[in-house]
Amino acid sequence: MAGLGFPVEEVVEGQARVLVPRMRDYLRSDGVYEPAWAPVFYNPRMRFGRDIAVVFARVYRRLRGLEELVVVEPLAGTGVRAVRYALEAEARVVANDIDPDSATLIRVNAERNGVSDRVTVFNLDANELLGGLRRRGIRPVIIDIDPFGSPLPFLDTAIEALGPGGVVAVTATDTAPLSGTHPRALRRRYEVRPGRTAWEKEQAVRILAGYIIRRAAAHEYGARILLAYYSDYYVRVYAELRRGAGRADRSLEQLGYGVYCGDCGYTGLPRLQPPGCPVCGSRAPVVVGPLYTGPLCDREIVEGMASEAERLAGSLAEGERAARFLSGFARECSIEKPYYRVDRLASLLRVNMPSPALLAEELERLGYRSARSLFDPRAVKTEAPHWVVLEAVRRLSPSRGRGPSSQP
Ligand SMILES: C[S@@+](CC[C@H](N)C(=O)[O-])C[C@H]1O[C@@H](n2cnc3c(N)ncnc32)[C@H](O)[C@@H]1O
Repeated sequence: MAGLGFPVEEVVEGQARVLVPRMRDYLRSDGVYEPAWAPVFYNPRMRFGRDIAVVFARVYRRLRGLEELVVVEPLAGTGVRAVRYALEAEARVVANDIDPDSATLIRVNAERNGVSDRVTVFNLDANELLGGLRRRGIRPVIIDIDPFGSPLPFLDTAIEALGPGGVVAVTATDTAPLSGTHPRALRRRYEVRPGRTAWEKEQAVRILAGYIIRRAAAHEYGARILLAYYSDYYVRVYAELRRGAGRADRSLEQLGYGVYCGDCGYTGLPRLQPPGCPVCGSRAPVVVGPLYTGPLCDREIVEGMASEAERLAGSLAEGERAARFLSGFARECSIEKPYYRVDRLASLLRVNMPSPALLAEELERLGYRSARSLFDPRAVKTEAPHWVVLEAVRRLSPSRGRGPSSQP
């Protein structure tokens, strides 16, 4: 292809047909494609995440009654996401990448898909682009930050670029720090008391959401978390920001701490750091935070997205998966207590693990909202008190054993 020093191939994703670096040229010794080696980044494993992004944009626009949808993507790679926003959400898109080959490919892809009048391409540093949007008269509704690793270097400029308000949609692939595997990096990057709970994927999501709320508050924006999830190897948070010091103060009230007790399995999200485990009194529970303690979705948005994904399933890249995920998430995301890892509880009680599906059903039958968690196949979310959960695990276990007392 003229202007590019590497072979390309066409891939179809959703409604888009885009050129990407020829993937077979970048295989690891185990034969798996390594997107980071390609001269312009295209990751087919992110198709699902891009489906969710397109569906979010459509539903957000409808629910907020917006005449026009302007999406800014400061780190756009091949432009596949930008082209999909233009084609599938009828958005006006600003797509940017610091790499000149990438900017060329975005232009080519916008042209091939007949949306070059709706996709404006820049070849700048992301922060330079974001800082100059207002001067160029561009008022974004959604700023989609999809970097390598941590989104932090771009978060403040993205927030400032929103003007009176809009949505920051943020991906983080630095899941090892966020989930507590690299505690020092977690403390350094996200300014939290580090630790590793048994609900590490939800911990990662809540830390990123909490950090966005804190940065937004520093710029006098209130933040509402509309959708926050963990999938494959990344965290994704959609936060709606509105300017106002009062709003910022109210958002900060949704911050608290994550607690996990390795002695009795208690999990919780108290507002203040507890001196010990509130259930068994253990002096050394894991305490992580500050992090976001509220619901991981706005029900209206996610239910709207679930129906939209079902309606569009045939035209998305992984439509059935997206529809299944969104309808499942609509059930679990308003349960604010972190998920329980059923295998961990069973091992504490020294019994065999009961089926997570059975446990969720049993807790529902007892009158507590409960659901299996999409974050982890071994996980259950429930509003039941801790001792009720322990009793149910013991009762449903294929073997019964002895462990810590489950009475309060
Ligand atoms: C993960 S890729 C983006 C993938 C794309 N959003 C998608 O959905 O396919 C990250 C991109 O950020 C670009 N990038 C890295 N640092 C940048 C910076 N400071 N400013 C602008 N682009 C940058 C890289 O060239 C790369 O194309």
